[in-house]
Amino acid sequence: MIKKNNVTQIKPGMYLHDNDGEWGGVILKYWDDSFSVGIKALDNQHKILFDTVAPLLESRGGAEGMITVHKTFNSLLDYADYHFKFEKELMASHHYPDAESHNKEHGDLIEELNSYYVMVEFGSLPPAQDIGRFLNEWVESHVLKADKELGNFLCQRGCS
Ligand SMILES: [Fe+2]
Ligand SMILES: [Fe+2]
Repeated sequence: MIKKNNVTQIKPGMYLHDNDGEWGGVILKYWDDSFSVGIKALDNQHKILFDTVAPLLESRGGAEGMITVHKTFNSLLDYADYHFKFEKELMASHHYPDAESHNKEHGDLIEELNSYYVMVEFGSLPPAQDIGRFLNEWVESHVLKADKELGNFLCQRGCS
């Protein structure tokens, strides 16, 4: 059973929860159209990113939980790297004027993701609220702002 802790809703559909105090996972609601940036390829990749985060929901404390968290961060880093390179090339090929700041945001996200990965690699679980804040920022500040702006720019040029 999922218990919301007192942080409750940090964005619609995303909750921190408390698995017997061992691991507060993050629930990212299933991707829906409100997350769309208007570009199919990017939406599909964002959906995969959401799916990649999902195993954190079921993770439990103990060795098994650590394996799940480790695998999840590993996959997330891999896929984020792929996705950010894809967006970088897209921006370059369309001479997107805000490419530099957009790529800088990607760099910051990778850096933070890496720091969590290193923690997990050394056997400690990152604090759930940090992970929650991080994922929240990724979605709210990046996908729903920077990626949507990129999507709008590309759509004006006839991308689909
Ligand atoms: Fe992006
Ligand atoms: Fe993106």
